[in-house]
Amino acid sequence: MERWFVNSPFRLAAQYLEIKWFKKTRTMKTGADVLEVGCGRGAGARLIIDNFKPARLYLLDLDVLMIEKARRYLSDVKAENMLFGVGNANSLPFEDDSLDAVFGFGFLHHVLDWRHGLHEITRVLKKGGAYYLLEFYPELYQNFITKRLLVHPEYDRFKSRDLHDAFADLKLTLIKTLESKYLGILGIAVKN
Ligand SMILES: C[S@@+](CC[C@H](N)C(=O)[O-])C[C@H]1O[C@@H](n2cnc3c(N)ncnc32)[C@H](O)[C@@H]1O
Repeated sequence: MERWFVNSPFRLAAQYLEIKWFKKTRTMKTGADVLEVGCGRGAGARLIIDNFKPARLYLLDLDVLMIEKARRYLSDVKAENMLFGVGNANSLPFEDDSLDAVFGFGFLHHVLDWRHGLHEITRVLKKGGAYYLLEFYPELYQNFITKRLLVHPEYDRFKSRDLHDAFADLKLTLIKTLESKYLGILGIAVKN
């Protein structure tokens, strides 16, 4: 069900609005090195390229089928600017302080040890680099109805307070958010 949704035109329309909000909220320097974690079929990547024109865009997903889809979906984009990889958010294949921005659209709530995933994102960001995120809370994806339709880890899921506390512990400052405590959060966090 979730796979159907993330591959649908509804998700694409929502992601278009999310990217526009990111763009108007924070300027990204030209020539940035950018990672998208949990890139899915690549729809977000195309929007990142069109709106932020990064020098390099790394696309990572745990699911090899998603990476294959993303390769096909982005086959018309200049390949030297993009690198695809199958990998886990809990062990990002990047040096410390090496990236200008990390995008994550709805992947962190899938990660079993999500605190470690967030720690990894912080580790690879340069000082002043930004994490652009869309995330969901269990009140949305594990309620009476959705828990029958969607597949998510059940143990230790973050609610709004948990996520805000984890950001504070990692010295990631949320500079702007659109949040519903019962749905999820769209936000930009900067590494101090
Ligand atoms: C809900 S989908 C979102 C896909 C896409 N970002 C979007 O917004 O349409 C979550 C994605 O995160 C990936 N994912 C889940 N756990 C992951 C992990 N530990 N590391 C990297 N990617 C992961 C899944 O394979 C899936 O493609």
